[in-house]
Amino acid sequence: MKSFLVDQDGYYGEFGGAYVPEILHKCVEELKNTYLEVLESEEFKKEFDQLLRDYVGRPSPLYLARRLSEKYGCKLYLKREDLNHTGAHKINNTIGQILLARRMGKKRIIAETGAGQHGVATATVCALMNMECIVYMGKTDVERQHINVEKMKMLGATVIPVTSGNMTLKDATNEAIRDWCCHPSDTYYIIGSTVGPHPYPDMVARLQSVISKEIKKQLLEKEGRDHPDYLIACVGGGSNAAGTIYHFINDERINIVLAEAGGKGIETGMTAATIQLGKMGIIHGARTYVIQNEDGQIEEPYSISAGLDYPGIGPIHANLAAQKRATVLAINDDEAIEAAYELTKLEGIIPALESAHALGALKKMKFKANDIVVLTVSGRGDKDVETYLAFND
Ligand SMILES: Cc1ncc(COP(=O)(O)O)c(C=O)c1O
Repeated sequence: MKSFLVDQDGYYGEFGGAYVPEILHKCVEELKNTYLEVLESEEFKKEFDQLLRDYVGRPSPLYLARRLSEKYGCKLYLKREDLNHTGAHKINNTIGQILLARRMGKKRIIAETGAGQHGVATATVCALMNMECIVYMGKTDVERQHINVEKMKMLGATVIPVTSGNMTLKDATNEAIRDWCCHPSDTYYIIGSTVGPHPYPDMVARLQSVISKEIKKQLLEKEGRDHPDYLIACVGGGSNAAGTIYHFINDERINIVLAEAGGKGIETGMTAATIQLGKMGIIHGARTYVIQNEDGQIEEPYSISAGLDYPGIGPIHANLAAQKRATVLAINDDEAIEAAYELTKLEGIIPALESAHALGALKKMKFKANDIVVLTVSGRGDKDVETYLAFND
């Protein structure tokens, strides 16, 4: 049977792999040779599950959104990752990776962040485990997500503003990789999405797969069947989407819909719609679609949402799109904002700007009345209130 999960060599079809500078080769190999053994050990699973339950607050609810269902003519469930401790799905991954880092004897943790959610989630687990934490964040994002910057500092992390490029997620990731190259032996790099060299995309997908594991169980309880007709999630690097689809990925009864950031429109040049506009390239250690110019130089992406403002895409999703296993929609800034207001007014839930892109996809879909649709609300909107208000001024 065809599988959309990673193969033995770290590829998803022709996407993925590990393209790293020589100095990091040993670190990546070490990780590759360790992660599965640790993640599959009973001792790790016990500690991970316990923290997800008692610290993060899992399982996150699967909520039947009645008014939104009525509006879109289907049975729409929201997977409430916004209710997790620290406000997004990112914490599932950081808990798993810090437990792994500890087992590998690493002392110093570095991370990159866009919206700041991954930075906060990393700073949180470093406080919990008493480890040093350094977070790289583009200066543009430091400004537009300043509440998260203050949280990271309060949690004891050092936040380093990055001033290269257009000062967003790509640039923060470059700096984190540079740091890792300088401290390969004592430093563990907690990547926040299904990006980077193998084994990161697979590891992050596995750690986030708790989302689809819960969806299966919750749907069985609520609907008497363990699968939906549609799964919808936003994609920056792709971790909340990977977690949402993980246990359904090879079951073609289920339609997968991925919402990427259209920015001001895919034809305007101000966009982060990587799957639609990207060409094969290498970014941050993986072979995948990259928004690039004719010379192969990475183009600066744009999205109102800091967490989706990335010119690459996780190899798992690039392959799903290439194989036509997933439908990919570009949702523009204004469509996402409108969808965020709609969820707020109809259901009393203010979503993160990233999640608002997944909600924006609803308007572009045609459902049947008995379709069961599960949409992941990857995070809460507290960090984005100023952007919401400014957009509507
Ligand atoms: C709330 C939220 N959702 C989604 C994303 C996008 O990341 P990913 O595609 O890895 O889920 C981010 C990234 O910062 C985020 O903060």
